[in-house]
Amino acid sequence: MTSRRSAPAFAIIALLVAACGPKEKAFKIAVAVPLTGDMGTEGQGLRRAVEMAVEEANTAQRFPYKLAAVPFDDRADPKEAVNVANLIISDPRIIAVVGHYNSGCAIPAAKVYARAPVAMISPAATNPEVTAQQLSPDWIGPKMVFRVVPTDDVQGAYAAEFTYRKLGKRRMSLLHDKTPYGQGLAEQFKKTFLQLGGDIVTEDGVAVGDKDFKALLTKIKGSVKKTEGLYFGGLYTEAGLLLKQMRELDMKDPFVFISGDGSKTSGLFEVAGESADGAYLSIVGVPVEDLPSAAKFMADYKKRWTGSGEELKPFDHFGYEAARIIFAAMEKGATNRAQMIEELRKTDFTGALGLTRFDAKGDTLNKIVTMTRAKSKGRSFDSIR
Ligand code: ALA
Repeated sequence: MTSRRSAPAFAIIALLVAACGPKEKAFKIAVAVPLTGDMGTEGQGLRRAVEMAVEEANTAQRFPYKLAAVPFDDRADPKEAVNVANLIISDPRIIAVVGHYNSGCAIPAAKVYARAPVAMISPAATNPEVTAQQLSPDWIGPKMVFRVVPTDDVQGAYAAEFTYRKLGKRRMSLLHDKTPYGQGLAEQFKKTFLQLGGDIVTEDGVAVGDKDFKALLTKIKGSVKKTEGLYFGGLYTEAGLLLKQMRELDMKDPFVFISGDGSKTSGLFEVAGESADGAYLSIVGVPVEDLPSAAKFMADYKKRWTGSGEELKPFDHFGYEAARIIFAAMEKGATNRAQMIEELRKTDFTGALGLTRFDAKGDTLNKIVTMTRAKSKGRSFDSIR
């Protein structure tokens, strides 16, 4: 009995020693993003970007140990994000996390990472609370949350200024998907729009997964105060359905549709087709194609990922940068989780995004937001200067 059990156990230990013994020391970077479901397309892009960064580091033998990118699927679901975070912290080889994509996932998952503690760099979650929560007196753990994208207080305010000043709109309807991201972004839009002297004519919430917005849109269209456009805080699937149904109800130019970074992806065209034309979508940062510092990343990405559905996604360069910021910390000697947190705080990294430094909250000092306009022909989002 004993001998029969010990043989496979010995084999497993031998395999482990061979795989990650002292000579083959390895570190893992977790990529915690949605890999399935509607948002899976965006998360898969982030996974590819981090994998590419890891492959580059391994090929160049940058470290005396191997790196691995390990994907975890949070399914864009806050509960699953917590499950995934618990799995991640239980693997001592994971030195840092690139994730999560959705603010609704990043906020609760960060609390789990704080307990470990293990550093997390979000490449996409824009709700201010993702990092701000770690300044709260009841935060358990050190400050270890970072992000490489600007926040929705900047993005929502920018969209409101754009709507009021550039588009000359004074009466807007507000809609959000009741998630921390969608609601937070819409509320910031409202705050700034009101401060500027605009009026929010109607205000509603929908649920992620809702399909039929006709009754709601009819109410918005018929608003007594005559709304001039819709600001939507949410993700591309609902944004695409809204656009489609808006056009069916003849809600089009000069009636405007404005949304944020969560809606600005090629999936919008898959859902809305030509109905996406003319929609305004803000994005965080400068469009990657306009970033000279990201030219090499884009060329390498296109060379590395050639399969169908493997085209560059809007947050991929942020994921790549997050991984490279982690490598820079390793280069400075961070070889355990605590050292990683310490080094990330001192980040002074020039890469695809230009210079990245973090403030005391863990947020990037880069606060640029760009407004784009959707064009179904060529599936482009043209920047508005
Ligand atoms: N920026 C979006 C979010 O925070 C993706 O959820």
